[in-house]
Amino acid sequence: MKKLDVVVIGAGAAGLFCAAQAAKRGRSVAVLDHAKRIGGKILMSGGGRCNFTNMYASHENFICDNPHFCKSALSQYTPWDFIGLVAEYGIAYHEKTLGQLFCDGSAKDILNMLFKECEKSGATVSNQCEILSIEKMDSGFELKTNQDQYQCESVVVATGGLSIPKLGASPYGYQIAEQFGLKVKPTRAGLVPFTLHEQDKAVLAELSGISLDASASFNDTSFNENILFTHRGLSGPAVLQISSFWQPGQTVEFDLYPNGDLLAYLQQTLENQPDVQLSTALAKHYPKRYIQAALPYLGIENKPLKQYQGKQLEQAAQAFHQWQLKPNGTEGYRTAEVTLGGVDTDELSSKTMESKKVKGLYFVGEVMDVTGWLGGYNFQWAWSSGWVAGQVV
Ligand code: FDA
Repeated sequence: MKKLDVVVIGAGAAGLFCAAQAAKRGRSVAVLDHAKRIGGKILMSGGGRCNFTNMYASHENFICDNPHFCKSALSQYTPWDFIGLVAEYGIAYHEKTLGQLFCDGSAKDILNMLFKECEKSGATVSNQCEILSIEKMDSGFELKTNQDQYQCESVVVATGGLSIPKLGASPYGYQIAEQFGLKVKPTRAGLVPFTLHEQDKAVLAELSGISLDASASFNDTSFNENILFTHRGLSGPAVLQISSFWQPGQTVEFDLYPNGDLLAYLQQTLENQPDVQLSTALAKHYPKRYIQAALPYLGIENKPLKQYQGKQLEQAAQAFHQWQLKPNGTEGYRTAEVTLGGVDTDELSSKTMESKKVKGLYFVGEVMDVTGWLGGYNFQWAWSSGWVAGQVV
């Protein structure tokens, strides 16, 4: 039986970071993970360059049933604190867009930094470690695993969400919450591409590889980034962002001319070149291949601009400004970047991430009902929630 202060379950971003913080305070800490390879998700993040934070992260960039829950942790450990650590390790980085910071080199730099932080502080990390049981004792917990038995004062659950099962994702964190009587909000895939109904797919799959500036909207939420047609459906940052808000069976609206007034542009062109075809006028702003498919798909006749009568030109412009699409579904956890829902934040202290019901039991990172937008917010949540728990376990 190994006696420790803290056992962390899950050696992802939140677990490794939390373990190093606790060990820096002199606590004895073990991180246990069932995966063969530690840190797979970090390595594939940000296209291999890890978008490790967002300079402008605030509680408004997170989806959570309690919109104020994230405030405390994000203010206790801010993006600038993490940027400071990255700089201490001499990791070069750049802002790609909208405050998103990426490594210049590789995501490996961030993973190595986390390993180094654990090593320096004395936290141990074990892979291929299956947790067989957790029991609450009079003081602390007892854990049985396929490797060792542990007695500890605090357990930190950092098992992440359900996305990308082949990298070790499992519902174990939710099961631990339920074992101890904590509520878990229903989960679903977020930051995930849409799949299409057959009639849309027949046309749009042909456009695979084309990306367009667009604003995607659902109810009161909009993201103005870009969309990407793929052979399976629709992806790209604006689509991933809105997928976290979309409800199955509902329609998403896309503005495919998001930064201007398409009608004004067409009227101007009509004045200067009345004989020009609509497709030619539009080809100034869109790839030709897209226009050829889009006009018949959106039910717009292609003819010289001067032949459009009454409100016809206005209707054509509107079809691009308000393209209504009802996705068939999403690609699901197989490709989703995150999992919405999870351990109910009403069960946890927002200052420490400790369970209000079970002393010594903590949840950090994505396992709880806190989901960031695309753009480095999810890693920042892993750092901030891991850090605050690391100060008190
Ligand atoms: P994480 O999932 O990282 O770690 C959980 C760990 O728990 C895993 O190591 C797993 O093996 C382990 N585990 C699970 N069940 C267990 C069990 N039963 N026993 C023991 N261990 C168990 N975010 C961002 O901010 N910027 C980005 O660039 C990206 N890019 C990105 C790309 C892709 C492809 C994905 C899938 C995701 C992203 N993300 C991202 C999201 C980000 O990776 C994610 O939010 C964090 O990794 C969450 O950190 P956690 O530590 O909470 O879980």
